[in-house]
Amino acid sequence: METMKAARIHSYGESDVLVYEDAPRPNPNAGELLVRVYATTVNPIDWKLRAGYMRSFMDFPMPITLGCDLAGIVESVGTGVTKFKVGDAIYGMPQAEIGMYAEYAVVSESDVAAKPNSLDFIAAASVPVAALTAWQSLFEVGNLAPGQTVLIHGAAGGVGSMAVQLAKTKGSQVIGTASANNHEFLRGLGADEVIDYKTTRFEDVVKDVDIVLDLIGGETRERSWQVIKKGGSLVSTVPPFPSDKDGANYSVYGKGIAVQPNAEQLKAIATLIDTGKLKPLVDKVLPLSQVRQAHELSQSGHVRGKIALQVR
Ligand SMILES: NC(=O)c1ccc[n+]([C@@H]2O[C@H](COP(=O)([O-])OP(=O)(O)OC[C@H]3O[C@@H](n4cnc5c(N)ncnc54)[C@H](OP(=O)(O)O)[C@@H]3O)[C@@H](O)[C@H]2O)c1
Repeated sequence: METMKAARIHSYGESDVLVYEDAPRPNPNAGELLVRVYATTVNPIDWKLRAGYMRSFMDFPMPITLGCDLAGIVESVGTGVTKFKVGDAIYGMPQAEIGMYAEYAVVSESDVAAKPNSLDFIAAASVPVAALTAWQSLFEVGNLAPGQTVLIHGAAGGVGSMAVQLAKTKGSQVIGTASANNHEFLRGLGADEVIDYKTTRFEDVVKDVDIVLDLIGGETRERSWQVIKKGGSLVSTVPPFPSDKDGANYSVYGKGIAVQPNAEQLKAIATLIDTGKLKPLVDKVLPLSQVRQAHELSQSGHVRGKIALQVR
Protein backbone atom coordinates (compact mmCIF):
# COMPACT_ATOMS: atom_id res chain seq x y z
CA MET A 1 0.00 0.00 0.00
CA GLU A 2 1.34 3.44 -0.94
CA THR A 3 1.32 5.97 1.87
CA MET A 4 1.39 9.75 2.17
CA LYS A 5 1.44 12.33 4.95
CA ALA A 6 -1.98 13.55 6.09
CA ALA A 7 -3.48 15.45 9.04
CA ARG A 8 -6.20 13.25 10.53
CA ILE A 9 -8.35 12.86 13.62
CA HIS A 10 -9.06 9.52 15.27
CA SER A 11 -11.59 10.98 17.73
CA TYR A 12 -13.42 14.29 18.24
CA GLY A 13 -11.89 16.88 20.56
CA GLU A 14 -9.57 19.87 20.97
CA SER A 15 -6.79 20.68 18.49
CA ASP A 16 -4.56 17.99 20.02
CA VAL A 17 -6.65 15.26 18.37
CA LEU A 18 -5.14 16.34 15.03
CA VAL A 19 -2.29 14.01 14.06
CA TYR A 20 0.16 14.55 11.20
CA GLU A 21 0.92 10.98 10.17
CA ASP A 22 1.22 8.39 7.43
CA ALA A 23 -2.07 7.47 5.79
CA PRO A 24 -3.04 5.34 2.79
CA ARG A 25 -2.80 7.18 -0.51
CA PRO A 26 -6.26 7.25 -2.16
CA ASN A 27 -7.06 6.00 -5.67
CA PRO A 28 -9.33 7.81 -8.11
CA ASN A 29 -12.59 6.09 -9.11
CA ALA A 30 -14.43 6.73 -12.37
CA GLY A 31 -14.84 10.46 -12.97
CA GLU A 32 -12.31 11.36 -10.27
CA LEU A 33 -8.87 12.95 -10.22
CA LEU A 34 -5.98 12.04 -7.93
CA VAL A 35 -4.45 15.42 -7.10
CA ARG A 36 -0.99 16.11 -5.70
CA VAL A 37 -1.98 18.71 -3.13
CA TYR A 38 0.20 21.81 -2.97
CA ALA A 39 -1.91 23.77 -0.49
CA THR A 40 -5.14 23.67 1.47
CA THR A 41 -6.63 26.04 4.06
CA VAL A 42 -8.42 26.06 7.39
CA ASN A 43 -12.13 26.76 7.21
CA PRO A 44 -14.20 27.05 10.40
CA ILE A 45 -16.07 23.87 9.39
CA ASP A 46 -12.77 21.97 9.84
CA TRP A 47 -12.50 22.74 13.54
CA LYS A 48 -16.27 22.45 14.04
CA LEU A 49 -16.08 18.95 12.53
CA ARG A 50 -12.94 18.16 14.58
CA ALA A 51 -14.71 19.20 17.79
CA GLY A 52 -17.71 16.97 16.99
CA TYR A 53 -20.18 19.85 16.52
CA MET A 54 -21.12 18.65 13.01
CA ARG A 55 -21.74 15.02 13.96
CA SER A 56 -25.47 15.14 13.24
CA PHE A 57 -24.84 16.29 9.62
CA MET A 58 -21.40 14.84 8.82
CA ASP A 59 -20.78 11.54 10.59
CA PHE A 60 -17.77 10.06 8.79
CA PRO A 61 -15.97 6.91 9.97
CA MET A 62 -12.68 7.54 11.85
CA PRO A 63 -9.96 8.34 11.11
CA ILE A 64 -11.06 11.46 9.22
CA THR A 65 -8.69 13.48 7.02
CA LEU A 66 -10.06 17.01 7.37
CA GLY A 67 -9.87 19.86 4.85
CA CYS A 68 -12.18 21.34 2.18
CA ASP A 69 -9.99 23.58 0.02
CA LEU A 70 -7.54 22.33 -2.55
CA ALA A 71 -4.99 23.61 -5.03
CA GLY A 72 -2.67 21.20 -6.73
CA ILE A 73 -1.65 19.26 -9.81
CA VAL A 74 -3.47 16.31 -11.34
CA GLU A 75 -1.35 13.20 -10.69
CA SER A 76 -3.62 10.60 -12.34
CA VAL A 77 -7.19 10.30 -13.57
CA GLY A 78 -9.95 7.71 -13.14
CA THR A 79 -11.82 6.19 -16.06
CA GLY A 80 -14.14 8.47 -18.01
CA VAL A 81 -12.40 11.72 -17.01
CA THR A 82 -12.65 14.18 -19.90
CA LYS A 83 -12.09 17.68 -18.52
CA PHE A 84 -8.56 17.34 -17.06
CA LYS A 85 -5.32 15.53 -17.78
CA VAL A 86 -2.22 14.62 -15.80
CA GLY A 87 -0.20 17.76 -15.03
CA ASP A 88 -3.11 20.24 -15.01
CA ALA A 89 -3.12 22.79 -12.16
CA ILE A 90 -6.55 22.84 -10.53
CA TYR A 91 -8.39 24.32 -7.55
CA GLY A 92 -11.70 23.52 -5.88
CA MET A 93 -13.56 21.88 -3.03
CA PRO A 94 -14.99 18.36 -2.76
CA GLN A 95 -18.68 17.63 -2.16
CA ALA A 96 -17.88 15.79 1.10
CA GLU A 97 -15.95 18.79 2.52
CA ILE A 98 -13.15 16.55 3.90
CA GLY A 99 -9.96 14.91 2.70
CA MET A 100 -7.75 17.81 1.59
CA TYR A 101 -5.25 17.95 4.52
CA ALA A 102 -3.03 15.43 2.72
CA GLU A 103 -0.28 15.08 0.15
CA TYR A 104 -2.75 13.46 -2.26
CA ALA A 105 -6.52 13.85 -2.50
CA VAL A 106 -9.27 12.50 -4.70
CA VAL A 107 -11.92 14.85 -6.13
CA SER A 108 -14.64 14.55 -8.72
CA GLU A 109 -13.63 16.26 -11.97
CA SER A 110 -16.95 18.12 -11.86
CA ASP A 111 -16.08 19.78 -8.52
CA VAL A 112 -12.92 21.60 -9.64
CA ALA A 113 -11.68 24.08 -12.23
CA ALA A 114 -8.36 25.27 -13.66
CA LYS A 115 -6.35 27.21 -11.06
CA PRO A 116 -6.37 31.00 -11.65
CA ASN A 117 -3.21 31.71 -13.67
CA SER A 118 -2.27 34.75 -11.64
CA LEU A 119 -2.20 32.95 -8.27
CA ASP A 120 0.32 30.63 -6.71
CA PHE A 121 -1.00 27.42 -5.15
CA ILE A 122 -1.27 28.88 -1.65
CA ALA A 123 -3.36 31.85 -2.75
CA ALA A 124 -5.43 29.60 -5.05
CA ALA A 125 -6.22 27.21 -2.18
CA SER A 126 -7.57 30.14 -0.17
CA VAL A 127 -10.34 30.78 -2.70
CA PRO A 128 -12.81 27.90 -3.29
CA VAL A 129 -14.89 27.56 -0.09
CA ALA A 130 -14.78 31.26 0.79
CA ALA A 131 -15.55 32.57 -2.70
CA LEU A 132 -18.20 29.94 -3.52
CA THR A 133 -19.96 30.59 -0.21
CA ALA A 134 -19.94 34.34 -0.85
CA TRP A 135 -21.08 33.89 -4.47
CA GLN A 136 -23.90 31.47 -3.65
CA SER A 137 -25.07 33.54 -0.64
CA LEU A 138 -25.19 36.83 -2.53
CA PHE A 139 -26.11 35.84 -6.07
CA GLU A 140 -28.07 32.56 -5.79
CA VAL A 141 -29.78 32.74 -2.40
CA GLY A 142 -29.87 36.53 -1.91
CA ASN A 143 -30.41 37.48 -5.60
CA LEU A 144 -28.36 40.64 -5.02
CA ALA A 145 -29.10 43.16 -7.79
CA PRO A 146 -27.08 46.18 -8.99
CA GLY A 147 -27.72 49.24 -6.84
CA GLN A 148 -28.93 47.25 -3.83
CA THR A 149 -27.35 47.63 -0.40
CA VAL A 150 -25.91 44.69 1.51
CA LEU A 151 -24.75 44.63 5.14
CA ILE A 152 -22.05 41.98 5.65
CA HIS A 153 -21.38 40.81 9.22
CA GLY A 154 -17.88 39.38 9.62
CA ALA A 155 -16.68 41.20 6.51
CA ALA A 156 -12.94 40.79 7.21
CA GLY A 157 -12.92 36.97 7.41
CA GLY A 158 -12.54 34.37 4.69
CA VAL A 159 -16.10 34.52 3.32
CA GLY A 160 -16.67 38.18 4.20
CA SER A 161 -13.59 39.49 2.37
CA MET A 162 -14.74 37.67 -0.78
CA ALA A 163 -18.35 38.83 -0.32
CA VAL A 164 -17.37 42.51 -0.07
CA GLN A 165 -15.50 42.31 -3.38
CA LEU A 166 -18.10 40.16 -5.19
CA ALA A 167 -20.91 42.50 -4.14
CA LYS A 168 -18.93 45.45 -5.53
CA THR A 169 -18.54 43.67 -8.90
CA LYS A 170 -22.36 43.80 -9.10
CA GLY A 171 -22.42 47.54 -8.43
CA SER A 172 -23.90 47.15 -4.94
CA GLN A 173 -23.46 49.36 -1.90
CA VAL A 174 -21.53 47.45 0.75
CA ILE A 175 -21.56 48.02 4.49
CA GLY A 176 -19.25 45.76 6.48
CA THR A 177 -18.84 45.09 10.17
CA ALA A 178 -15.40 44.39 11.65
CA SER A 179 -13.18 45.56 14.48
CA ALA A 180 -11.34 48.86 13.92
CA ASN A 181 -8.03 47.27 12.92
CA ASN A 182 -9.73 45.76 9.85
CA HIS A 183 -11.39 48.94 8.58
CA GLU A 184 -8.61 50.04 6.26
CA PHE A 185 -8.45 46.50 4.86
CA LEU A 186 -12.22 46.54 4.16
CA ARG A 187 -12.09 49.95 2.50
CA GLY A 188 -9.27 48.63 0.33
CA LEU A 189 -11.58 45.80 -0.77
CA GLY A 190 -14.18 48.38 -1.79
CA ALA A 191 -16.52 48.57 1.23
CA ASP A 192 -18.49 51.85 1.13
CA GLU A 193 -19.09 51.95 4.89
CA VAL A 194 -17.49 50.12 7.78
CA ILE A 195 -18.85 49.70 11.28
CA ASP A 196 -16.82 48.79 14.35
CA TYR A 197 -19.06 46.18 15.97
CA LYS A 198 -17.15 46.58 19.22
CA THR A 199 -18.09 50.25 19.70
CA THR A 200 -21.22 50.79 17.58
CA ARG A 201 -24.52 48.93 17.52
CA PHE A 202 -25.07 48.53 13.77
CA GLU A 203 -28.85 48.89 14.17
CA ASP A 204 -28.25 52.46 15.41
CA VAL A 205 -26.60 53.50 12.14
CA VAL A 206 -27.99 51.19 9.44
CA LYS A 207 -31.51 50.91 8.11
CA ASP A 208 -33.43 49.68 5.06
CA VAL A 209 -30.76 47.45 3.54
CA ASP A 210 -31.84 44.94 0.89
CA ILE A 211 -29.78 42.04 2.21
CA VAL A 212 -27.93 41.13 5.36
CA LEU A 213 -25.22 38.50 4.88
CA ASP A 214 -24.82 36.99 8.32
CA LEU A 215 -21.48 35.22 8.84
CA ILE A 216 -21.66 35.49 12.65
CA GLY A 217 -25.04 34.17 13.87
CA GLY A 218 -26.39 34.48 17.43
CA GLU A 219 -27.47 37.89 18.68
CA THR A 220 -25.81 39.61 15.68
CA ARG A 221 -28.36 37.83 13.50
CA GLU A 222 -31.27 38.52 15.85
CA ARG A 223 -30.54 42.27 15.83
CA SER A 224 -30.32 42.25 12.01
CA TRP A 225 -33.98 41.71 11.07
CA GLN A 226 -34.87 45.29 11.99
CA VAL A 227 -32.34 46.88 9.58
CA ILE A 228 -33.69 45.10 6.47
CA LYS A 229 -36.36 46.71 4.29
CA LYS A 230 -39.68 44.93 3.79
CA GLY A 231 -39.31 42.19 1.17
CA GLY A 232 -35.53 42.01 1.77
CA SER A 233 -33.54 38.95 2.84
CA LEU A 234 -31.34 37.79 5.67
CA VAL A 235 -28.95 35.13 4.33
CA SER A 236 -26.95 33.19 6.90
CA THR A 237 -24.10 30.69 6.64
CA VAL A 238 -24.31 29.81 10.35
CA PRO A 239 -26.58 27.02 11.62
CA PRO A 240 -29.26 26.82 12.89
CA PHE A 241 -30.37 28.52 9.67
CA PRO A 242 -33.06 31.22 9.78
CA SER A 243 -36.40 30.70 8.03
CA ASP A 244 -39.02 32.99 6.53
CA LYS A 245 -41.00 32.44 9.75
CA ASP A 246 -38.20 34.05 11.79
CA GLY A 247 -38.41 37.20 9.64
CA ALA A 248 -42.20 37.30 9.34
CA ASN A 249 -42.64 40.13 11.90
CA TYR A 250 -40.44 42.33 9.69
CA SER A 251 -41.75 41.01 6.32
CA VAL A 252 -38.20 39.81 5.60
CA TYR A 253 -37.14 36.44 4.15
CA GLY A 254 -34.79 34.29 6.22
CA LYS A 255 -32.52 31.91 4.33
CA GLY A 256 -29.62 29.56 5.08
CA ILE A 257 -26.92 28.43 2.71
CA ALA A 258 -24.83 25.26 2.60
CA VAL A 259 -22.05 25.82 0.06
CA GLN A 260 -21.86 23.40 -2.87
CA PRO A 261 -18.96 22.73 -5.24
CA ASN A 262 -19.59 24.43 -8.59
CA ALA A 263 -17.05 24.28 -11.42
CA GLU A 264 -18.76 26.96 -13.52
CA GLN A 265 -18.70 29.41 -10.61
CA LEU A 266 -15.04 28.55 -9.92
CA LYS A 267 -14.27 29.40 -13.57
CA ALA A 268 -16.07 32.75 -13.28
CA ILE A 269 -14.25 33.43 -10.00
CA ALA A 270 -10.89 32.59 -11.65
CA THR A 271 -11.66 35.10 -14.41
CA LEU A 272 -12.44 37.81 -11.84
CA ILE A 273 -9.13 37.01 -10.10
CA ASP A 274 -7.08 36.97 -13.30
CA THR A 275 -8.56 40.30 -14.38
CA GLY A 276 -7.74 41.90 -11.03
CA LYS A 277 -11.34 42.29 -9.82
CA LEU A 278 -11.10 39.81 -6.94
CA LYS A 279 -8.11 39.46 -4.63
CA PRO A 280 -7.75 36.72 -2.02
CA LEU A 281 -5.89 37.52 1.17
CA VAL A 282 -3.83 34.86 2.92
CA ASP A 283 -3.09 36.18 6.41
CA LYS A 284 -0.84 33.33 7.50
CA VAL A 285 0.80 30.28 5.93
CA LEU A 286 1.73 27.29 8.06
CA PRO A 287 3.08 23.89 7.03
CA LEU A 288 0.49 21.08 7.18
CA SER A 289 2.49 19.58 10.08
CA GLN A 290 1.47 22.65 12.16
CA VAL A 291 -2.22 22.08 11.61
CA ARG A 292 -3.00 22.21 15.35
CA GLN A 293 -1.71 25.79 15.59
CA ALA A 294 -3.64 26.69 12.41
CA HIS A 295 -6.88 25.39 13.95
CA GLU A 296 -6.31 27.31 17.16
CA LEU A 297 -5.79 30.51 15.18
CA SER A 298 -8.95 30.00 13.12
CA GLN A 299 -10.94 29.11 16.22
CA SER A 300 -9.91 32.39 17.84
CA GLY A 301 -12.40 33.96 15.39
CA HIS A 302 -10.29 36.93 14.29
CA VAL A 303 -8.39 35.81 11.21
CA ARG A 304 -8.24 38.38 8.40
CA GLY A 305 -8.85 36.57 5.09
CA LYS A 306 -7.57 33.01 5.27
CA ILE A 307 -5.04 30.73 6.96
CA ALA A 308 -3.33 28.49 4.40
CA LEU A 309 -1.64 25.15 5.00
CA GLN A 310 1.33 24.48 2.75
CA VAL A 311 1.53 20.84 1.81
CA ARG A 312 4.55 20.93 -0.53
N1 LIG B 1 -22.97 27.17 5.49
C1 LIG B 1 -21.88 27.11 4.74
O1 LIG B 1 -21.85 26.49 3.67
C2 LIG B 1 -20.64 27.84 5.20
C3 LIG B 1 -19.57 28.01 4.33
C4 LIG B 1 -18.46 28.76 4.77
C5 LIG B 1 -18.45 29.28 6.06
N2 LIG B 1 -19.50 29.03 6.87
C6 LIG B 1 -19.55 29.62 8.23
O2 LIG B 1 -19.58 31.03 8.08
C7 LIG B 1 -18.90 31.63 9.17
C8 LIG B 1 -17.83 32.58 8.62
O3 LIG B 1 -16.86 31.83 7.93
P1 LIG B 1 -15.43 32.45 7.61
O4 LIG B 1 -14.62 31.42 6.94
O5 LIG B 1 -15.60 33.77 6.96
O6 LIG B 1 -14.89 32.70 9.11
P2 LIG B 1 -13.56 33.42 9.59
O7 LIG B 1 -12.69 33.70 8.43
O8 LIG B 1 -13.00 32.62 10.70
O9 LIG B 1 -14.13 34.81 10.19
C9 LIG B 1 -13.24 35.57 10.94
C10 LIG B 1 -13.69 37.02 10.93
O10 LIG B 1 -14.86 37.18 11.75
C11 LIG B 1 -14.83 38.52 12.24
N3 LIG B 1 -15.69 38.64 13.44
C12 LIG B 1 -15.62 37.92 14.58
N4 LIG B 1 -16.63 38.29 15.41
C13 LIG B 1 -17.33 39.28 14.78
C14 LIG B 1 -18.49 40.05 15.08
N5 LIG B 1 -19.15 39.89 16.25
N6 LIG B 1 -18.95 40.92 14.17
C15 LIG B 1 -18.32 41.10 12.98
N7 LIG B 1 -17.19 40.41 12.63
C16 LIG B 1 -16.72 39.49 13.51
C17 LIG B 1 -13.38 38.77 12.54
O11 LIG B 1 -13.12 40.14 12.38
P3 LIG B 1 -12.46 40.98 13.59
O12 LIG B 1 -11.10 40.37 13.81
O13 LIG B 1 -12.42 42.36 13.07
O14 LIG B 1 -13.35 40.76 14.78
C18 LIG B 1 -12.63 37.93 11.49
O15 LIG B 1 -12.09 38.70 10.44
C19 LIG B 1 -18.35 30.49 10.02
O16 LIG B 1 -19.24 30.21 11.08
C20 LIG B 1 -18.33 29.31 9.06
O17 LIG B 1 -18.41 28.05 9.69
C21 LIG B 1 -20.59 28.33 6.48
